[in-house]
Amino acid sequence: MASPTLTTLQNHRSVRKFTSEPLTEAEVATLIDAAQHAATSTFSQQYSIISITDPAKLAVLADITGHHWLESAGHYFVMIADQYRNQSLAPNDDTTQANLHSLDKLLAGIFDATIATEAIVTAGESLGLGSTIMGSILNDVPRLISLLDLPELTLPVLGIAIGHPAEQPEQKPRLPQQLMHFTNGYHVLSPADQVLQSYDQLVTDYYHQRGTHQRDETFTHHIATELSRDPQQRAGILTSIHQQGWLH
Ligand SMILES: Cc1cc2nc3c(=O)[nH]c(=O)nc-3n(C[C@H](O)[C@H](O)[C@H](O)COP(=O)(O)O)c2cc1C
Repeated sequence: MASPTLTTLQNHRSVRKFTSEPLTEAEVATLIDAAQHAATSTFSQQYSIISITDPAKLAVLADITGHHWLESAGHYFVMIADQYRNQSLAPNDDTTQANLHSLDKLLAGIFDATIATEAIVTAGESLGLGSTIMGSILNDVPRLISLLDLPELTLPVLGIAIGHPAEQPEQKPRLPQQLMHFTNGYHVLSPADQVLQSYDQLVTDYYHQRGTHQRDETFTHHIATELSRDPQQRAGILTSIHQQGWLH
């Protein structure tokens, strides 16, 4: 099956090198419009988007994420889970306040911000732009909250560096569907699974053949490495969530 939307989705790769051409105001507005058309939990539109155009703030974001290349992106968005706006629209009674501060509404804000993120990425790619989603903005949530003057009941979720691509990275091969799409119930994976071993080989070939940062790597080893990082690194997120007024 083929369609222009499928082609865009199937051609995805994260882009981390951009030309010096900034996004126009019209392009930014188009991307935000695409995000706003995404589904939103209980039609509550519980997210906001902050464009970062101040070079000093971009430098702080580069410092937080460790991604100094974000300063040369054509545009930068920070996606925010946001119950603050709806708090100001709703009556100030106990049930409303309990809802606004609940895990359910925190998750709903995160879902909304995340779905809007993917809409921006895909809309951008359909226009020939490239981007990278950044969870690394959460490396220092208190600093980001203060940088962006975020009020209570808001939380930064993801950053998006987007612009005109100055590279076309090879596509990273994804898991075979039989390892991640099940019918009517979960299928437990054995590490000795032949299909997994073939996928490990495919990932090895990808890392050997790609244009930059070639190395020996399998998916299995990559996951072990990712999970060996110090979990305390981002343990402060829960404190920030509480400080922003959630989960009391
Ligand atoms: C939630 C999320 C957070 C991410 N955070 C980062 C990040 O902080 N830095 C980065 O360089 N890439 C980040 N990425 C991009 C992933 O590394 C990338 O999608 C993955 O390696 C697959 O590569 P591809 O997008 O080129 O297919 C993130 C992606 C997602 C979905």
